[in-house]
Amino acid sequence: MSDTPILVTCGLPYTNGPCHLGHLRTYVPADFYVRYLRHCGREVVFVCGSDNHGTPIVISAEAEGVTPRQMSERYNAHFDETFKKMGIFFDRFGMTDDPMNHETTTEIVTKLIENGHIYKKTISQSYCPHCEMFLPDRYVEGICPYCGEKARGDECDQGCGKHLEPGELKEPVCKICGSPAEFRDQEHYFLKLGDFKDFLNGYLPTIQGTSNAKNYASMWVKEGLHDWCVTRSFNWGVKFPGHDDLVVYVWVDAPIGYISFTKEWAKATGGDWEQFWKPEGKGEVIHFIGQDIIYHHCVFWPSLLEGSGYKPPKAVVASGMVKIDDRKFSKSRGCVVWTNEDYLDIGLSPDYLRYYLLSYTSHTKELNFSWKEFQARVNNEFVDTIGNFFYRTLHFAANKMGGIPDLDAEPQVLEAIKSTIAQLDKAVGEYEFKAAVEAVLALGNTANTYIQTNAPWKLMKTDENAARQTIRNCLQFVKALTILLDGIMPVKAQEAWELLGYKGKVADCRISEALTGFEHRELPTPKILFAKIEDEKVAEYENTLKMRLEEAKAKEAGSAAAGSASAQTASTKPKTENKGDKKMEDNNEPVEQISIDEFFRTQLKVGKILEVEPVPKSKKLLRIMVDLGEESPRQIVSGIAPYYKPEELVGLSVVVVANLKPAKLCGVESNGMILAAGDEASLLTTKFGVAPGTKVL
Ligand code: MSP
Ligand code: ZN
Repeated sequence: MSDTPILVTCGLPYTNGPCHLGHLRTYVPADFYVRYLRHCGREVVFVCGSDNHGTPIVISAEAEGVTPRQMSERYNAHFDETFKKMGIFFDRFGMTDDPMNHETTTEIVTKLIENGHIYKKTISQSYCPHCEMFLPDRYVEGICPYCGEKARGDECDQGCGKHLEPGELKEPVCKICGSPAEFRDQEHYFLKLGDFKDFLNGYLPTIQGTSNAKNYASMWVKEGLHDWCVTRSFNWGVKFPGHDDLVVYVWVDAPIGYISFTKEWAKATGGDWEQFWKPEGKGEVIHFIGQDIIYHHCVFWPSLLEGSGYKPPKAVVASGMVKIDDRKFSKSRGCVVWTNEDYLDIGLSPDYLRYYLLSYTSHTKELNFSWKEFQARVNNEFVDTIGNFFYRTLHFAANKMGGIPDLDAEPQVLEAIKSTIAQLDKAVGEYEFKAAVEAVLALGNTANTYIQTNAPWKLMKTDENAARQTIRNCLQFVKALTILLDGIMPVKAQEAWELLGYKGKVADCRISEALTGFEHRELPTPKILFAKIEDEKVAEYENTLKMRLEEAKAKEAGSAAAGSASAQTASTKPKTENKGDKKMEDNNEPVEQISIDEFFRTQLKVGKILEVEPVPKSKKLLRIMVDLGEESPRQIVSGIAPYYKPEELVGLSVVVVANLKPAKLCGVESNGMILAAGDEASLLTTKFGVAPGTKVL
């Protein structure tokens, strides 16, 4: 087994709002991973902290009448506590506004300047003449220059999702006073990302972790690297060296926080931080993040490290986004489930949530949260198998056999456990947490079937020795499952460990102990470990979410009501009635009607065309690479070559049938269909910019 020390980090939460379930998809799998490595005897350091800088935090703090530091301290404590309640324990949970990070950021930025990677440029920036200040990032709103949607100063959050550089936003309006902003010249500093093209082209193919991180980053490098403005005229943040009126952009000092928190951990424990970050160090760094910040971690961050003499990360593990009904989490739109208010505070088990987040779907896929699904997973898959099995075994052993029978587990039991460990090892190595949980559940099923078919309660009457052996085997399964469950359900695993008569911490034991016997015979009084989630409760939770969505909608409608007279008439207009079973289309041909469910079997999604190439030896076909918001772009072959030049298509947002069975056209595989209408194959596009992968309904 490798003895390389590993540093695991998690994306740093911003300190301007509470923890929601979306956040947890970064932290829970990371914690599972860390626990697993530790069970395998690996040396792991696990650090995180909060991201305190940037304009949204200042805006929220101003709205509450507190300083950004006060607000950051409050939310820092909130995240720290919430993570602990979720069973996630970092070796260090720091703050990017703490002195260590100011120091490290200054040092790294100075090195980047010395190494010639940062240059000065005068740019025209939004300025509010009324407030007499420049308007960085969130202080300004306007129109996205790429897609025409309403956007913020730094990001087209409602449209195409592009990162916007200062000065790019059209028709800027000051967020503080609402007056139109003007453009004024200001000197800023830029990072020459282009300097790192060769480095990135060499590095990205070697980066480990989930393939979405590697694939997206490589695609972006191929599309071309734009220089990044790394300063903001602002007074909250880390000062840009030699300039009292400029701070560094938050995405510079935030990832540097990973280094600072490692240093803080080292200072407190006498550990060695350099092994992880210096090029000659033998430690490895693994970042856990969400898919939304792949660019920052796989393009920008490695460049910062490379340009200042540090070592880039070994792996980036990026999760798919958590959504609700296919909608992005959004506080203002009420589309959110809060970790505390909606979950922990009402007495729900952190373990169940961990289990759901880990096992719901593959780590890189989107996770659409639903209370019903949550309930089904917990009740059917978990409580019914493992819960039942544990209770039956422990109850029978304690009450009918006076404890653990003085026998060894039989070889076939140990074989089953060994094979589960092998599967688990493979799954964790591939960051397939769903597969890892499934391997554990499968062992639970094997054990459950075993007790069922061998029925020790019957055997007891006919062959007591056989009954004792059966229960001994079952206890081995319980022991193994308990150790393997620690990463998934740490609280329940510890409780089960104690029900097996152990005094120590299950988190401290090695995975190899899943195969060793018991040195004690006594068992405490058994109890039921896993309770089902009741239907009435789920209805309540669903209702809370529904109300929140509706309230937000009503608020939005209220604020938009002034200009929406036409929208109102449209909605009050009686709908055309539809009598009879068959409806006529325009051309009077009868068409068969389908139910809405049948329609939904066709998955339509918005795709962005990335690359287009003619298919050799075909006049009609084009090979088109489309970004559907998935792990890697899809290859689709389409017969539209007579109507479009390849370069005309690149960048277009089109509608794609995403769940079509793959087919080969002229020997080239096609995985979907791009929709077009009429004789000239007029492509269906979206009126406003919509992120790739958005469902068309
Ligand atoms: N502050 C940045 C990260 C800086 S890392 C140097 C940030 N903060 S965040 O609070 O928005 O998110 C914290 C973590 O949670 C990130 O890993 C992010 O990807 C993840 N998620 C936040 N919302 C999410 C979903 N709705 N779904 C999945 N993960 C998301 O980003
Ligand atoms: Zn846009």
